Amino acid sequence: MIMSDENNERAVIRGLRGVAAATTQISFVDPLGALYYSGYNIDDLVDNATYEEVVYLLLNNKLPTQTELTNLQSKLFSEMRLPKQVVERIKSASPTCHPMEILRTEVSHLGEFDPDPDNTSDSANKQRAISIISKVPTIISFLHRTRTKQEAVAPVKGFSFAENFLYMFRGRPADQQEKNAMERYMILHADHGLNASTFAARVTAGTGSDLYSAVTSAVGTLKGSFHGGASERVMKMLYEINSLDEVEEYIQTMLDDKKKIMGFGHRVYKSEDPRSKHLREMAESLCHQKDTLSIYNKCKKIELTVHDKKGIFPNVDFYAALVMHALGVPRDFFTSFFACSRVSGWVAHTLEQYVDAILIRPTSKYIGEYGREFVPIEKRS
Ligand code: COA
Repeated sequence: MIMSDENNERAVIRGLRGVAAATTQISFVDPLGALYYSGYNIDDLVDNATYEEVVYLLLNNKLPTQTELTNLQSKLFSEMRLPKQVVERIKSASPTCHPMEILRTEVSHLGEFDPDPDNTSDSANKQRAISIISKVPTIISFLHRTRTKQEAVAPVKGFSFAENFLYMFRGRPADQQEKNAMERYMILHADHGLNASTFAARVTAGTGSDLYSAVTSAVGTLKGSFHGGASERVMKMLYEINSLDEVEEYIQTMLDDKKKIMGFGHRVYKSEDPRSKHLREMAESLCHQKDTLSIYNKCKKIELTVHDKKGIFPNVDFYAALVMHALGVPRDFFTSFFACSRVSGWVAHTLEQYVDAILIRPTSKYIGEYGREFVPIEKRS
């Protein structure tokens, strides 16, 4: 009997901290506090590019020409419509289900209506990727319209992708400031190296499984509160703290209880998350416009207090929560808005993983017992 093997002597790298598990050209998360998509600094993209240009960049590793961009925009627009079975399923979904649970199911459901599932060529997968990127915001918008007993709203040709998403979700056109905020929010959330949900997508793709399966894995992973689910918990915290005077005690109690403050800390960045400064600015200006500055001031005080007490910074989810709130998005939809943007990174990484074509299969260190004697069921106590 083999009682142990040399593999079992390996050191465990808990949480794969610091392990490089793939090569990528899609994005680089610089621990010193910068983020690049295909070599372009996020600071330049957020000020100058559209979300559609970023989608093209992530899928093709180059910025589009005007013709390429127009082509992509029209493909994205034409792919927004959902199969009627998906529409029916959303209508009959349980009203108590979290939107991310419904999204997880419906992304998987979309796979049933793929017109050519056996065609796994690069071009078929790219077409599929665009279709998924387009349909995810429609699923979320339609779910919200159904839940609030409002008519579904069709996208408008000539609106940007981000603008159409907000329009289909809320049923009214966005003003200029809201349009800018939505565009920037989607660019900032589009990709982020080998984060947990992208890793999940790549693990699924590494087995040779299809794109819908990869995105379904990613949706389920993003949902967790240590990942995309954090923004909903940030909003909960903002409601629990009634005034600026309560901030200090609330944070101290959380830290004394060894609880994590949602929207703070990061596995890679040891200084400020480069997306935070943009989201903070957007939150401040939206709150100014909507006369809800008191909630922004609460956020600022929380940020200073957590930094003073723990030396950590806000991550993408902290001010994103406030941006979503100011745009009129209900709290339980925050994570799904994140998914509607990050889906472009998920599909880009999945296509990259198909090219690398390696099974991602780490090992584990066995710490259980060896050589236990089998006892028949009637003799077990
Ligand atoms: N609140 C309080 N303390 C935190 C913290 C937080 N949000 N994030 C990190 N820390 C502390 C840890 O307690 C630890 O302190 P210690 O050394 O005194 O024990 C230290 O900072 C290192 O944190 P660690 O938990 O090892 O970091 P990690 O890389 O394993 O975790 C996160 C990263 C993102 C999971 C973690 O910061 C977290 O849970 N944040 C809240 C959830 C969140 O906002 N998620 C969205 C991420 S984009």
